[in-house]
Amino acid sequence: MNPVQHVAVIMDGNGRWGLKNKKSRNLGHKAGLKTVEMIIKESIKKKIKFITLYAFSTENWKRPSTEKKFLFNLLEVYLKERLDQLNKNKIKLKIIGKKVFSKNLNSILNKAERITNNNDKLQINLALNYGSKTEIISALNKLKNTKGKITEKKIDQSLYTNNVPDPDFLIRTGNTARLSNFLLWQLAYSEIFFEKKLWPDFNKNDYLRIINKFKKIKRNFGNV
Ligand code: FPP
Repeated sequence: MNPVQHVAVIMDGNGRWGLKNKKSRNLGHKAGLKTVEMIIKESIKKKIKFITLYAFSTENWKRPSTEKKFLFNLLEVYLKERLDQLNKNKIKLKIIGKKVFSKNLNSILNKAERITNNNDKLQINLALNYGSKTEIISALNKLKNTKGKITEKKIDQSLYTNNVPDPDFLIRTGNTARLSNFLLWQLAYSEIFFEKKLWPDFNKNDYLRIINKFKKIKRNFGNV
């Protein structure tokens, strides 16, 4: 049985779910938060140590400003309401991506990282303004003046996910089979599960089914 240490998630399909069920893309994002909470709860129960959630990509800046405002406000309000609870549950929050948001959002994100820094039950890497190519470029720039050859280990240590094991598997909901500039280096050997369901419809049974399926996969890493 493969152990599960790290699960990465592309939470796709909020917009379509919102339009279909509430006539509003934004209400789809709001509904998606409930699935985030389910993933956090079930991951803790399964003793998973890291989850990485793709919440906003470097490409998502192209979206209408009303949608961007809604998303950032949703996150700000959520953290204001739930930071204490996250901390009490010994959850560590780490933002991966450059924080270039409003003063209020940047400040609550910094506060959340600072307060939860020593927690060790579950680490949530929240990918915000995240792009894998930007991350790799920034790693290479950090390394370009160091002595000796660039190695896999040195790149690992220079990425935003420094000290985080590579994801065991990636889940992408929303019936789309692509990586969308997410963790391109770190996912090199991860199993990938593309799910038809839209993110707000993805439930506990879906998550547990994938965990169980992953546990039984024969992983060869190039061997036979
Ligand atoms: C992708 O669906 C989803 C996002 C870009 C945002 C994800 C945000 C949340 C789940 C809520 C906020 C998160 C936190 C952690 C507070 P889409 O909008 O691309 O859907 P579509 O493909 O149907 O348009």
